[in-house]
Amino acid sequence: MRVALGVSGGVAAYKAAELVRRLQQEGIDVQVVMTRSAQEFITPLTFAALTGQKVITELFSGESGGANVESAIEHIAVAQRIDLLVVAPATANVIAKMARGISDDFLTTLYLATTAPVIVAPAMNVNMWEHAATQENIGTLRARGVHVVAPEEGYLACGMTGAGRLAGVDAIAQAVCARLGIEHDLRDETIVVTAGPTCEDLDPVRYLTNRSSGKMGYALAQAAARRGARVILISGPVRLDPPQGVEFVSVRSTEQMHRAVLQHFAGATALIMAAAVADYRPIAPQAAKIKRTGERLTLELESTPDILADAARGKGERIIIGFAAETSDVARHARGKLESKQADLIVANDVTAEGAGFDHDTNVITLYARDGREQAFPRMPKIDAAHRILDQLRALRTPSPQISETQRVR
Ligand code: PMT
Repeated sequence: MRVALGVSGGVAAYKAAELVRRLQQEGIDVQVVMTRSAQEFITPLTFAALTGQKVITELFSGESGGANVESAIEHIAVAQRIDLLVVAPATANVIAKMARGISDDFLTTLYLATTAPVIVAPAMNVNMWEHAATQENIGTLRARGVHVVAPEEGYLACGMTGAGRLAGVDAIAQAVCARLGIEHDLRDETIVVTAGPTCEDLDPVRYLTNRSSGKMGYALAQAAARRGARVILISGPVRLDPPQGVEFVSVRSTEQMHRAVLQHFAGATALIMAAAVADYRPIAPQAAKIKRTGERLTLELESTPDILADAARGKGERIIIGFAAETSDVARHARGKLESKQADLIVANDVTAEGAGFDHDTNVITLYARDGREQAFPRMPKIDAAHRILDQLRALRTPSPQISETQRVR
């Protein structure tokens, strides 16, 4: 999703920086457009650093030394690229220009050129806000379908008290998400997600592990956080940065993951075990490096704790989703794991299939639910697979009698 954030000149301009962060947490790509007076309050550099993109400050390249538009029709290109335009803070002046169709800078020209939905969040002195001219202009914009996030009442920067303070960043972000159809359908969930491999040490320099990159688990954490869940990501060693907005717990061994899962699942509503947990560990890891003798070496291994099965004991209403990484007879093994692990849902992936399983950016999954629902999906990016799994988490909260036949894909 792409949003243009128009920042006009007012004391509240600094809050637009917070809004950028908030929108980015929703996975929204933000293009900032600043009016000339906005730059008196906050520098374009701040927004460029936050967004990693050039900030548009001029209609024409070279204006006041500015050279940040790539062509004379950049406003048209931006207008066509965006899914929504939000102006926050919107001054009385910008609102007036938008209402009358005056387009004398990039922001107001963009407003006329775009067919995307528009949201304005006004901020100004109370008398300016209540002035008949401003109210008439706001009425004109509303009549045109522009969504107005009304300013809040309170102490204003000018020293007066009344309506005119920029609405809260959350309220503006919610309006943006609502217009973009970004749902927070998991807002009541606290989800523990595990990801990556676990490592079992043989000696200080050698260990047993597997090929898990963490991509599947991190995609689940990211998707759940975007859908409003509180997410606790418990990860083995991987090369990925934790997604924004998730609580992160780093572990190495199965024992550590076991402890962290049981601790955090106690206060959670769901557990998703995407981690590739080591099933065996050396019985006696050595304190010193094992020396090469030239002789045959036999490693004695013992079973690790079954994290999923332990978490499932006494789980009550909490939902448990496990994975099954299989190389043959996928359906039989997956259904078997539903029983043996007492999970509500098993996500099976045939890790020998092309573009599926370990380290790929895509996966091919089939979902086996305890209530008999089964769904097979074609190869898709792991982030999309994550959303399909979370859709099922939602569906599992629906009492079984309401499950329609059409949901039984197979
Ligand atoms: O990380 P990626 O590179 O993106 O790869 C994704 C993945 C292939 C690792 C992932 O999609 C996946 O299949 N994860 C589960 C791998 C696995 O360990 O499967 P399993 O069939 O051995 O285990 C079944 C379930 O029990 C899993 O949910 C596992 O987390 C859990 N388990 C296993 C062993 C153990 N001691 N405790 C457990 O809880």
